[in-house]
Amino acid sequence: MSGSWATSPSGQALGIDLHIAPADGSGLRRGLTDALREAVRGGRLAPGTRLPSSRTLAADLGIARNTVADAYGDLVAEGWLTARQGSGTRVAERPVDAPCPASAPARRATGAPAHDLRPGSPDLASFPRAAWLKAARRALAAAPNDALGYGDPRGRPELRTALAGYLARARGVHADPDRIVICSGFAHGLQLLGDVLRARGGSRDVAVDSLGLPPHWDILTRAGLRTRPLPYDELGTCVGELGDAGAVLLTPAHQFPMGVPLHPDRRAAVVDWARRTGGLVLEDDYDGEFRYDRQPVGALQGLDPERVVHLGTTSKSLAPGLRLGWMVLPAGLVPEVVAAKGVSDWSCGVLDQLTLAEFLASGAYDRHLRAARLRYRHRRDQLIAALAERAPSVRVTGIAAGLHAVLRLPPGTEQSVVRAAAWQGLSLVGLSSYRHGDAGGAPLDALVVGYGTPADHGWVGALDALCRVLP
Ligand SMILES: Cc1ncc(COP(=O)(O)O)c(C=O)c1O
Repeated sequence: MSGSWATSPSGQALGIDLHIAPADGSGLRRGLTDALREAVRGGRLAPGTRLPSSRTLAADLGIARNTVADAYGDLVAEGWLTARQGSGTRVAERPVDAPCPASAPARRATGAPAHDLRPGSPDLASFPRAAWLKAARRALAAAPNDALGYGDPRGRPELRTALAGYLARARGVHADPDRIVICSGFAHGLQLLGDVLRARGGSRDVAVDSLGLPPHWDILTRAGLRTRPLPYDELGTCVGELGDAGAVLLTPAHQFPMGVPLHPDRRAAVVDWARRTGGLVLEDDYDGEFRYDRQPVGALQGLDPERVVHLGTTSKSLAPGLRLGWMVLPAGLVPEVVAAKGVSDWSCGVLDQLTLAEFLASGAYDRHLRAARLRYRHRRDQLIAALAERAPSVRVTGIAAGLHAVLRLPPGTEQSVVRAAAWQGLSLVGLSSYRHGDAGGAPLDALVVGYGTPADHGWVGALDALCRVLP
């Protein structure tokens, strides 16, 4: 059976050709479920398509009818198929995105669901198009001809200068333009730092949070390093176990995804560790500008600019598609990072760099952030009020900050809530998607709700859909 494509005679009578090949070794039910899900996800089985009866498909594949019925049942529960008395099993009219795989939990896929509350994106409809265009026009008009050349691998001086001023003022960063390197978002900066750490030849271990972003761990692994998860408690990451790691990657202003700032004692402890051992602290300040109840806590880099690399991005404040980020490096690290970039990597187009420089210098960035903070703060307040009224057993944890909230669920319910949401056309991500494979302790059942993701017009509907699936 395996390796052959099942072409159902009755399927052909219905005008379809299933072309599924359940994989060997994964169990028949699972293999069939995976193969059918892929066929729907990839568009080979279009919405509304009627599937052969379980009896017919079982006969075609030479497997038990129950196995097919169970696979159909699994896919109905996940929202890929529908089963109605009299009309058989069909591909759902509105196939939803699968819950994001752990390797890319924050990324969007094609085939948008009706509501999207996955974290990882700001409200893209509120991108400040007019102000950005104005800045782009001004920046291009003022750019010297040599700005259009290959230029400095660290990035345009106009942007590094504007960032140095902004980061010092808004985030308390010790920022000299000469130590800033522009990169294609945080991910690119991390990749370069991973290459530098590997090339240095010290410890290959990088301590990371036991709950974090798997693609970032993958970047470090691909650089030839090992990620070692740190425990986590209500004061944030437990940094007492850094030991002989070569570096530690943290989100100190607002731990991703748990949403707690690193306790002041731990901020001091991690810097002490770095001074004592020569280790490097990689500070991911991805949403440091979004604090709603008070001034954001200053950057960790301010405590020791020679031991902490500060990394920032426009992915939350403007749009991930810009692919614009920066690193503020210890002076000694600049040549190594520039060398890691290599001769062919200029990474970010100069026009976007010059536009961001103009956007910052003109005050448009501050204005945009003020409006964005109001928008997201309002949504967070609405989320908390709606949960108190409609889902009182669900607790929101973490500080009033960022673009996502963690919703603690009753034990054992995370997967069923995510599935029920998918069934209703609402994309959600469970906390388990962010758990490091080597993390200790018992997993928590929770959702990581990206309240920043929908456009304004979709927010209330998304919130209502969320409340409907919560226990
Ligand atoms: C924890 C964290 N850091 C950084 C980023 C930004 O990454 P990038 O600048 O590569 O888009 C994200 C985006 O989802 C994030 O969740």
